Amino acid sequence: MLVNSQLYRTIWPQRSRANSLAVVCIIDQTKLPHQFVIASIEHFQQMLAAINTMQVRGAPLIGAAAAYAIALAVQDDASDQHLQASAAQLMQSRPTAVNLHWAVQRMLGLLMTLPASDRNQAAWHEAANICEQDVLLNQAIGRHGWTLIQAASEHAKVSQVQGSVVNVLTHCNAGWLATVDFGTALAPIYTAHNAGINLHVWVDETRPRNQGASLTAWELAQHGVPHTIISDNAGGHLMQQGLVDLVIVGADRVTSQGDVCNKIGTYLKALAAFDNDVPFYAAVPSPTIDWTITDGLTEIEIEHRHGDELAYMQGLAADGSLQNIRVIPVGAQAMNPAFDVTPARLVTGIITEQGIFPPAELSLSRQT
Ligand code: MRU
Repeated sequence: MLVNSQLYRTIWPQRSRANSLAVVCIIDQTKLPHQFVIASIEHFQQMLAAINTMQVRGAPLIGAAAAYAIALAVQDDASDQHLQASAAQLMQSRPTAVNLHWAVQRMLGLLMTLPASDRNQAAWHEAANICEQDVLLNQAIGRHGWTLIQAASEHAKVSQVQGSVVNVLTHCNAGWLATVDFGTALAPIYTAHNAGINLHVWVDETRPRNQGASLTAWELAQHGVPHTIISDNAGGHLMQQGLVDLVIVGADRVTSQGDVCNKIGTYLKALAAFDNDVPFYAAVPSPTIDWTITDGLTEIEIEHRHGDELAYMQGLAADGSLQNIRVIPVGAQAMNPAFDVTPARLVTGIITEQGIFPPAELSLSRQT
């Protein structure tokens, strides 16, 4: 996608000039929206830290980052022992998003069949394949998902709703920054916007890390999509006022029965949508579907992050520097579950690269 009119992806490999080894470039998402910083990752441990600290984040992107982490590990040491130890560390880094597990398993499945001498080249090649696949899946999600927005737009025109604008509410960041490119929940929005549909996005701020206010708002602005940031508590009220036509969110893991695990707070939006007859969709590439589980509430490990994410907020100081300020009393306890599960009964449909499926029919999206 475009940043200041220049095309970027969120992650890409590059040859180091110093020693001709490969490095991986990432957009450091902890600095957005105030600073656009490219970080160069040279070693496995650096990529592991980038995933842990959320310099890279979003389920599809941490899958891609994990694949490149494996390539960096193999570049240093291609032995079985090192490969397996690196994979084990990655698996523990962010437990909820299944894309990370999927990507690590895919890398291991390939590399363990090869002699150590062939692993380096194969690892970089496979990580690049995972990235290319992610972009294609997201574009397909965009092609399917925009029909929902198109239908809402036609409905608004027929009903002569003032301005016939379609209002879409989204939570967290499931845009191109959460993927290699194009996004999941925002893919239908970009596709509809590019097709000239008059739409507007309500952007949940998404405390505690503010992925909505910091990342979604930034990338929608870069692409010229009209949007308004709202507090996390405002969505239900807007739905009651008839100001939301549909909700589209991403997901970090979806069960075979269509339970949707996504950023904390998604469940409350789904409840409000259900109560107000607002359609609620999750946009999900196939690597985000965990076909091995059925019940999201009992079978998905919810990542708990440090309470400091609630205690401190980052912002731009008057001197232009990024600063953290404390917003809760010193000594106060803070608990920080990072995801929740929306039961399938609250989900209108799941937008995949294969089409749009009611949760009960999600298995129809499964490629053999
Ligand atoms: O904790 P994060 O920022 O890595 O969370 C992931 C997300 O951005 C969302 O939950 C998103 O909707 C799923 S990723 C497309």
